[in-house]
Amino acid sequence: MRNFKTNFLKTFFKKQIIGLDIGASSVKIVQVTKENGTISLKKTAYSKLTSMGKDRDILLKQSIRDIWREQNFETNKVGISLSGKKVIARYIELPYMEKKQLGKALPFEIQTLIPYSLEDVMLTSHVVDEFEKNGEKKIRVLYAVSLKKEIDKIISLLTALKLEAVFIDLDMISLERVYRLNSSGEEDVLMVDIGAETTNFNFLHDGSTLFARDIEWGGNILNASLRKNLKIMYQEAEEIKKKRELITIGADGKAEPNSHIIEHLNRLSKEINLVIRHCMFNSQIGMPEIIYISGGGALLKNLDVYLEQSLEIPVKIFNPFEKTGQINSGANGGSSRIHSTIFTMALGLALRSE
Ligand SMILES: Nc1ncnc2c1ncn2[C@@H]1O[C@H](COP(=O)(O)OP(=O)(O)OP(=O)(O)O)[C@@H](O)[C@H]1O
Ligand SMILES: [Mg+2]
Repeated sequence: MRNFKTNFLKTFFKKQIIGLDIGASSVKIVQVTKENGTISLKKTAYSKLTSMGKDRDILLKQSIRDIWREQNFETNKVGISLSGKKVIARYIELPYMEKKQLGKALPFEIQTLIPYSLEDVMLTSHVVDEFEKNGEKKIRVLYAVSLKKEIDKIISLLTALKLEAVFIDLDMISLERVYRLNSSGEEDVLMVDIGAETTNFNFLHDGSTLFARDIEWGGNILNASLRKNLKIMYQEAEEIKKKRELITIGADGKAEPNSHIIEHLNRLSKEINLVIRHCMFNSQIGMPEIIYISGGGALLKNLDVYLEQSLEIPVKIFNPFEKTGQINSGANGGSSRIHSTIFTMALGLALRSE
């Protein structure tokens, strides 16, 4: 009976965690429910953050407060994540050990490898591979360190809103969960989430993370270039990206990026290629069958065509809600104008609670 009760409570509370993705340019929220093993989309919410610096924090707080008021969530428990400049993510090979032991050993192993004192950071880890080397069983661990003061900033903002962060995840790992939910059974696949400032990569082999990293590349780079070249304001650059075709398709079917953004798109393509080559070289695997792009940056018209042609691998815009029901089919209508792919990370966070 006691077990039943604890399990029930565990499931009940786990269900209540909301994925809160605080991005550089917007806040995305996803809530799912799980009944009889089926995960269904319950609610989504989206709010754009237009200002930077101190004002941004005020706006962020206001946006989250407004969303909570509108949505009537019956919980204050959220899962959040970190990426970009706020976190250093690296890999380390260690002798095989259980999770509990790893929790103790990892801080000692990495203390000389990071530029901060252990007291100032929070450490997160994820075993990405188990293998044998010279007859010895080993593990490859993705670890991430983030400055406590950065985390404290987010936590205190949430606390002021009476929200409780029950976990802090890595964007890169969030991608694994969303992929697994929607997997079409590919052996090798690359997920690329393109935000406003950061792009997260996750190369998955048989549905598990093989290699993940993030780079400073996002839609804002294109805005900066358009602003400089066309002498326009940020907001105009946003409009141009969304309304005009900055990548046109020629009569021969070839994608042709506008001269103001071509060098940046070439860099993105190169970075994707680097991740693929790294995985193929280090793990002796083949080319990914498909590259899924997600996040707002993936919506740049014809970016999928351009990447597909330059990388010679199929590229598709990822729909995280393929298996959960879509935004405009039952869940709140408030964010139904927002493309599903923008909620990819937030769904990944919401899934961790399941
Ligand atoms: N239709 C569109 N066409 C082109 N770009 C778009 C479109 N919609 C959104 N974007 C771009 O996507 C970016 C925002 O995406 P997203 O909301 O995923 O980023 P974020 O999560 O706030 O940022 P980050 O992940 O870097 O912290 C912006 O640069 C925006 O201009
Ligand atoms: Mg993002």
